[in-house]
Amino acid sequence: MTTLTNSLRNVRSELDTYFKNHFQNEMGLPSEVLKAMSYSFIGKGKALRPFLVLTVADILNLDKQSALQIALAIEMVHTYSLIHDDLPAMDNDTLRRGQPTCHIQFSESTAILAGDALLTHAFEVLADEKTHPNALVRCQLIAYLAKSAGVEGMIGGQVMDLQGEKIPLMENEIYKMQSMKTGALLKFSCIAPAIAAQKNQETIEALTSYANAIGLLFQITDDLLDEIGSEQEVGKTLKKDKKAGKSTFLNLYGIQKTRELALEMHQKALQALNTPILKECTLLKELANFILTRTY
Ligand code: IPE
Ligand code: IPE
Ligand code: MG
Ligand code: MG
Ligand code: MG
Repeated sequence: MTTLTNSLRNVRSELDTYFKNHFQNEMGLPSEVLKAMSYSFIGKGKALRPFLVLTVADILNLDKQSALQIALAIEMVHTYSLIHDDLPAMDNDTLRRGQPTCHIQFSESTAILAGDALLTHAFEVLADEKTHPNALVRCQLIAYLAKSAGVEGMIGGQVMDLQGEKIPLMENEIYKMQSMKTGALLKFSCIAPAIAAQKNQETIEALTSYANAIGLLFQITDDLLDEIGSEQEVGKTLKKDKKAGKSTFLNLYGIQKTRELALEMHQKALQALNTPILKECTLLKELANFILTRTY
């Protein structure tokens, strides 16, 4: 196992423990929804977004508790986005992270509510004093998460993704869709620790360039894995995008050119790390390499 995959696993297990502790006093709450939230959150996700939060927080000397709170919030929003993405009205998927999707394991109504609960709870996490002692900073984080998850971000991208099944998107529209549906939450993961550490514009710009490149790279490799990955490793039903008529770079350009595009994005991510603040951070470089070559 590489150092990076090892670090990702450690982050997964640290965050899962944090999630369980967070809900340990909530046992009186509607148990079916809590069960569904835990089922989807805990265990097998790669934890890339929490990894980014904790890695950037480390570079910027943000304290560990703030970083864990932000990591918990973004992974909750990410998990909700997957639960809803898999619903019959969306991508209609039955397999996620190697196990039945939330609506298959529970019911459609429970999956919708578990997603809603994870989303709303993420804002409660950010509003907690444990996230940051300064209320203004907490407000900035809350506003930024709302923007990243909403119509200007993930939701807006999901709308374009579904529209793109009916009317093929042009190249520039695919860039826009991917940077919104996938890029926005990855970007939040890079920038939120800088907001919490109250860093200057220069730091935020360097992180933004890196985040934009890995956001696009990540969705391109997701689309490639849908076509040429191993279902066992990826843990999702594959070869679905073409059937659904999704507008992706892969469906527009074919495998060869899409791979070249992935290499281009990978180079952009490495270039973005070539700044005084980020160049010492080998983990961010390794993460870009992982996203380029990932098999899951
Ligand atoms: C899947 O994200 C959804 C996309 C944005 C393509 P991940 O591949 O990060 O999902 P998990 O968390 O590892 O399952
Ligand atoms: C999903 O993109 C992006 C989200 C916002 C959840 P996909 O629909 O391609 O993700 P997978 O392949 O189902 O994980
Ligand atoms: Mg989708
Ligand atoms: Mg999907
Ligand atoms: Mg996909």
